[in-house]
Amino acid sequence: MMNQKLKTIASFISKDDVVLDTCCDHAYLAIYLKKFQLCKEVYASDINIHALDVAKKNIQAANLNITTYLSDGFKSIKNSDINTVVIAGVGANTVLDIISYAPSNITKYIISSNNHQEELRNELYQMGLYIQKEVVIYEKKKFYVIMLVTKDYVKENKITLKYGKSKNKDYYLSLLKKEQEVLEKVPKKKVMKKLKHLHNIKILKRIIKRI
Ligand SMILES: C[S@@+](CC[C@H](N)C(=O)[O-])C[C@H]1O[C@@H](n2cnc3c(N)ncnc32)[C@H](O)[C@@H]1O
Repeated sequence: MMNQKLKTIASFISKDDVVLDTCCDHAYLAIYLKKFQLCKEVYASDINIHALDVAKKNIQAANLNITTYLSDGFKSIKNSDINTVVIAGVGANTVLDIISYAPSNITKYIISSNNHQEELRNELYQMGLYIQKEVVIYEKKKFYVIMLVTKDYVKENKITLKYGKSKNKDYYLSLLKKEQEVLEKVPKKKVMKKLKHLHNIKILKRIIKRI
């Protein structure tokens, strides 16, 4: 079913976009986009044949016409009209692997990685892909980071690459809590480690104060 995460992803999609949802699972996002005509065209793909079978059944049940592909990222997709790609619900390594095979005409990515947000931001920055907007939502007792990424340059610094630029205070409070818990467990003699966590705590408190 369409959840808050998928609705947030959909909110980043425009009428002119030709979208590929690369990790479509049961195709809820593609169905939603097609049903409400939120983009020019939408394709759905997944690496898993069972997921794709369910996707096809759901598309049929919704009485819609959506082309699906069994594919590892872009590897079996040859459409040249796609300009927008959704990569959501997988880890950062998979996100980066999928991007590495993306054709050069893709102008927009909507990314929600399950992990390693800092590493992902750094890698994207080095690849010349820039985060225009980052929204964090809380659903099913978890925070989800959703990034709108394009080739339009956005200057970042160490802090924005580490923590992003979302406005979700609860998200940063949860990161602060984690840092404080980690700090408590660092042995007294590991001074450098303690200083690193104290520095992170200071930064997070500053971010929280500004929201
Ligand atoms: C947890 S579901 C995410 C569904 C939806 N995108 C979301 O964010 O809610 C992850 C899906 O990604 C698919 N997947 C994992 N690696 C993939 C890859 N390299 N290429 C395409 N699909 C992949 C899985 O088969 C699975 O259906």
